[in-house]
Amino acid sequence: MKKEVYWHTSKVQKNDRQKIKQHKSRCLWFTGLSGSGKSTLANAVEKKLCEKKIHTYLLDGDNIRHGLNKDLGFSEQSREENIRRLGEVVRLFVDAGVVVLTAFISPYHKDRDMARSLLEEGEFIEIYVKCDLAICEKRDPKGLYKKAREGDIPNFTGISAPYEEPLNPEITINTGLEVSLEEQVETIVQYLETHYKIEK
Ligand code: ADX
Repeated sequence: MKKEVYWHTSKVQKNDRQKIKQHKSRCLWFTGLSGSGKSTLANAVEKKLCEKKIHTYLLDGDNIRHGLNKDLGFSEQSREENIRRLGEVVRLFVDAGVVVLTAFISPYHKDRDMARSLLEEGEFIEIYVKCDLAICEKRDPKGLYKKAREGDIPNFTGISAPYEEPLNPEITINTGLEVSLEEQVETIVQYLETHYKIEK
C-alpha cells in the first residue's frame, strides 16, 4: 500500500444502510467440490430470502470468472487471488447492507479464513456443501471430471488438486443424501433465523 494513499471515512455507515433495508448484512459462504450443488443451493436460498424481502446478491465462481476474475486460472496462487478478490467484494457488499451469497469451491482453509477475517464477528457464515467425490463425479454436470480423469484439465479439485474440508463450518448440508432441495433451503433459513437473526 502506497503511503500516499489515504482512507476516506464516509458519512453514511453500514448501520445506516442496514436501517433502511430493515435487516442486517451477512455473507453466506458456500464451499464444496465442483458438482456438490453449491450454485443450486445458493440460488434456492437467495430466492427464499428474496421472498422474505431481504436484499441479496449472489456471487457465483463460474460467473465471476467470466468477468472480474477472467484473468485467473486454477493454480494454488490463482485460486488464492480469486478468493482474495471475492473476499474484498464480499466486504463491500456487507458494508452496503446486503446479504451476499457466494458459491465458490474455495478449497483452502487459509483463503476462507482470510475472507472471514475481513468481516465482523457473526457476519461470515460458512456453509459446507458436503458431497462425496464419487457422487460429484457421477453427476458430472459439465463433463469436467471426465476430462480431468483423462488428463485434459490439470489441477482439477478432488482429482489432481486438493479440497480442504471445513473444520468448523457454521452449517453443513449433505447434498449426497435423499434430502430435497426445499428441505436443505429450510435448514439454512431456519438456522439463520435462530442463530444469526437477519431481520431487525
Ligand atoms: S476456486 O477453487 O478458485 O474457488 P471457482 O469456484 O472459482 O474455483 O471455480 C470453479 C469452477 O471452475 C468449477 O465449477 C468448474 O466449472 C470450473 N473449473 C475449470 N477448471 C477447474 C479446475 N481445474 N478445478 C476446479 N474447477 C474448475
